[in-house]
Amino acid sequence: MKVVLRIGGSVLGSPPSAEIVNEYADVISDLNYEGNFVAVVVGGGQVAREYIRSASKMGLSPYQQDTVAIHASRLNARLVAMKLGGVSSVPTSIDGMLQRLARNRVAVMGGLKPGITTDTVAAMVAQRWRADLLVKASDQNGIYTADPRVNKKAKKLEKITFEKMKEILGGSHKPGIHSIVDPVAVAHLTDSRIRLVVLNGSDAKGVIKAVRGEKIGTTVT
Ligand code: UTP
Repeated sequence: MKVVLRIGGSVLGSPPSAEIVNEYADVISDLNYEGNFVAVVVGGGQVAREYIRSASKMGLSPYQQDTVAIHASRLNARLVAMKLGGVSSVPTSIDGMLQRLARNRVAVMGGLKPGITTDTVAAMVAQRWRADLLVKASDQNGIYTADPRVNKKAKKLEKITFEKMKEILGGSHKPGIHSIVDPVAVAHLTDSRIRLVVLNGSDAKGVIKAVRGEKIGTTVT
């Protein structure tokens, strides 16, 4: 199976926790061993958001704010890539990522361009690579009827359609956006119809469950 694994910066920690990076490396090796190909897309986390805040206070444009955040995600991606096989650089384009995936069972990248988040990068890789599944490891248990950090009455959804996801999570991009799935990625996934599982990434093994089709987080089909 071709799996895109999007690891939220909020899951890795800022700076990334060695323990969590190692757990994800083990899970990715297990997935490879079971015959899966894995495209990993890593986010920039709190550090990226702090750079955005500084850049904003300095009067830099939203484009420049996004640009510094992209570098934070690439640094995280490089760390994960090194643990997985010692590569010295990470792809900075979808074509570059696809070239790596054509040669290897696993490839890792971070951010791509201003105006999106790594959710969209993951959705773009999934579409071009014709992935079977996109798993987003996030800091929440799945997609809720509303943002659970704001609305305490929000309920977790187990299985929803792309249209329902768009209804709940549609909108537009702004630097540092912290949505369970960013609105641009939601639009991409609604077009490409690639199955998405959003789960709590604090236990990396949850990703194996998602790939095996076991019940976890929220599935969007
Ligand atoms: P990330 O996608 O790195 O977020 O986007 P994250 O830390 O993993 O977030 P969680 O864990 O899912 O919540 C952080 C910011 O980096 C910029 C955007 O400003 C985005 O909000 N970014 C990232 C881009 O502009 N382009 C990219 O391709 C990636």
